[in-house]
This record gives sequence, structure tokens and C-alpha cells, in this order.
Amino acid sequence: MKICIDCDPGVDDSLAILFALARPDVEVVGISTSVGNVTAKQGADNALRILKLAGMEHKIPVCVGAEQPLNGDEVDFPEFIHGKNGIGNVELAPSDQKPVDMDVCDFLYQIASENEGELVLVTLGRMTNIAKTIKRYPDFAGKIKKVVSMGGTVLATGNVSPVVEANIGGDPEAADIVVQTPWDMTMVGLDVTLKTILRKEDLEYAEKYCREECKEQIHFLREEMKWYMQGARQQNWMRECCPLHDPLAMIVAVDPSVVKTHRCVTRIECEGAYCKGMVVTDLREYPIDGEYVNHCMEVDSKKVLDTLFAAFY
Ligand code: BDR
Ligand code: CA
Repeated sequence: MKICIDCDPGVDDSLAILFALARPDVEVVGISTSVGNVTAKQGADNALRILKLAGMEHKIPVCVGAEQPLNGDEVDFPEFIHGKNGIGNVELAPSDQKPVDMDVCDFLYQIASENEGELVLVTLGRMTNIAKTIKRYPDFAGKIKKVVSMGGTVLATGNVSPVVEANIGGDPEAADIVVQTPWDMTMVGLDVTLKTILRKEDLEYAEKYCREECKEQIHFLREEMKWYMQGARQQNWMRECCPLHDPLAMIVAVDPSVVKTHRCVTRIECEGAYCKGMVVTDLREYPIDGEYVNHCMEVDSKKVLDTLFAAFY
């Protein structure tokens, strides 16, 4: 399976990327970054460091994308969750590779054209780069096999407001363009990610029993997750564990059987003091005009964790 990852690494983005790289049936063909957990530039630097850790830095191109959401709003970086550098303040060895010198829309379009009909687009951050590419290249969407996005919440609470999840709330206008695009799209939101919990001990166990070549990667994940789990604790959720947001989206991309989905016409609310960024799902018999999106509503969390770690054993 060929996957292009649009992300904002990001502690949980790192785990999603390393999981994809560790799967023998996945070929990551490109990584683009947008502002979110850190700047797009820092995110690309992190992506290159993560690729180096997996010995893939010379094989996968990384492109710096949007540094601002479509509406130009200031970005408030969630340092208490991802650390100042986005990877839990862990010092990961730098790569000698540089990001490609390309506009992100051209980059995504080129990858989609080279892998027409077989490319799975996995988005783990704000959807700014994707929305811009859809606008610039009207035939972009038709080249993509399916889109799997970490973002949103249907029935669960939000994580940046009572009803809004961070990736959608960070650029609602972009997300609304993406859900209005006629393609096969699945949203992996807080309804399922908050039910999929990674414990500190899971990583300790994995570091002990993973195959030799993955040891350093799991060690890095353990280190950066210390910060991330403190962040989860500050959000009054949990102790020495955390929800799996981005990794779950990546797992759904490779094995959709871990979730049950509900398909309905979807829009993103782009206004309002409390609801800006809310995912609006029309469950009525005669819904508003619009495109259908699959929303993950139930998850087999045990199977998710087994699938996640199986890639490293
Ligand atoms: C999402 O927001 C980011 O902080 C995470 O990396 C994840 O993509 C969770 O709401
Ligand atoms: Ca992310």
C-alpha cells in the first residue's frame, strides 16, 4: 500500500510515522507538514529526524507546507502536550537531508500523479495543505484512492473546545473544503481515539521484545511519550497513559477492520464562539446537499494495540 502522510510531527505523529515505516506492506512515498503542533518547518525537520532513526531519510521526500491556516489566524502551539520542539523535548539526531525545495501543492500533486489510483492519503494534522492542493489542482482528488484523516469528533467531547477537535479546529475552512470533496474519506476522530489507550508499560514491554533494529525507535518513543503523557494528565484525563490519535488513523488506513464507521453527509462549522471547527454530521433521512464521509464510531482497541506493536516485533 502506498501512503503519503500530511502531518505536524508531533509526538503521536512520530509513532504513526514509525508504525507505517515498520510495516512491510506499506510504502511511504512522501511526507508533507503543516503548522499545528509546531511550525511546518520544525515539523519537517522532525520528520527527517524520525526518518533517519528508521534509516529511511534518503528514501522518502519531506516537504514543508502551510505555516498558517487558510484564515490566517495566529497559531497557539500546544507545548504542554508536544514539547517545545514537537517531539517531547527529546534531542533526536539531526538528518543531513533537507526538505525538498517545492511548493507543497506541487509536491502533493506530483506524488498523487505518480501513484494515480493507488495512493492512500493519511492526514494527521490540519488540512490546510490538502485544501490548497484541491483548489489549485481540480483533478487532484480523482487521483487519490482513499483519504484517512485523524480529526474531529461526532459524539465525544472536543479537546480544544467542548465540541471541537484540534486538527479541525485549527483550520475549519480547510477541513470544510476537504469534506466537500467527492472522494472516499474516513475520519478517525475522538469518538475512537479517546477509547484507544497506550500505557507506559506497553512501551516498556515493546522496547524489551521488539526486533533489534526497532529498539532505538521504541526507546525514542518511550522518551518523548513521557512528556506527552504528562500533557494528557494535565488535561485531567489519565495517568501514565495517553490516547492514540494519529497512530489510530494510520492503523485504520492499513486495516479498516479495527473500527466500525457511520457514513453521512458532513460539513464543518466555520463560525461561532463555541462551535467553530465542529463536525456537523447530518443523520436525517433527507440530509443537506453534500458529500458523504465515513466516521469511526466504534473501535476494537485491543486489536489496535496488537496491530501497532506487531509491526515492531
Ligand atoms: C490531534 O492534534 C494534535 O495535537 C495531534 O498530533 C493529533 O493529530 C489530536 O487532536
Ligand atoms: Ca498530528
